Amino acid sequence: MVNLASKFQAQPWWLLLVSSLLVSNIHPRANAEPQVPCYFIFGDSLSDSGNNNDLATTAKVNYSPYGIDFPEGHTGRFCNGRTMQDIIVQLLGFQEFIPPFATARGQEILKGVNYASGSAGILNESGQQLVSI
Ligand SMILES: *[C@@H]1O[C@H](CO)[C@@H](O)[C@H](O)[C@H]1NC(C)=O
Repeated sequence: MVNLASKFQAQPWWLLLVSSLLVSNIHPRANAEPQVPCYFIFGDSLSDSGNNNDLATTAKVNYSPYGIDFPEGHTGRFCNGRTMQDIIVQLLGFQEFIPPFATARGQEILKGVNYASGSAGILNESGQQLVSI
C-alpha cells in the first residue's frame, strides 16, 4: 500500500504545480475587466496611498525622497514606489490604482477606496511612538 502523505513530502512537484496555478490566475490582462468588481483597502503605512497628506499628523510622507520611483512622485505612499496594494491591484487587472479616501470622489468609489492611514492601529497607543518635532 502506498503511503500518500510520504509520497507528497518526498516530491515537491505538487507544490510547484499548485503555486503555479495560483500565480497563473492573477496575471494582469490588458483591456479586460478586473478579476474582482471592487477592492477596498484598510491598513496602515504599508498600504496608505495619501490619506495622511492633509491630516494634522507628523505621519506624513508627501515630500521627496518618498515616491522617487513612482511616476507621479511623492503621493503620500510610505515608500519609494508602489505599495503592495498597488501591485495587487495591478495584478487583479485594474487600470487605475485604488484612490485614497481623502481624494476619492463620485463613481470611482464604486471600484474601491483606500482607507489605509500611516500610523494607524487598533490600540489607543498606536502611532504614539512617532517622534513629534
Ligand atoms: C481608548 O480611548 C478611548 C477615548 O479616550 C477610551 O474611551 C477607551 O476606553 C480607550 N480604550 C482603551 C483600551 O484604553
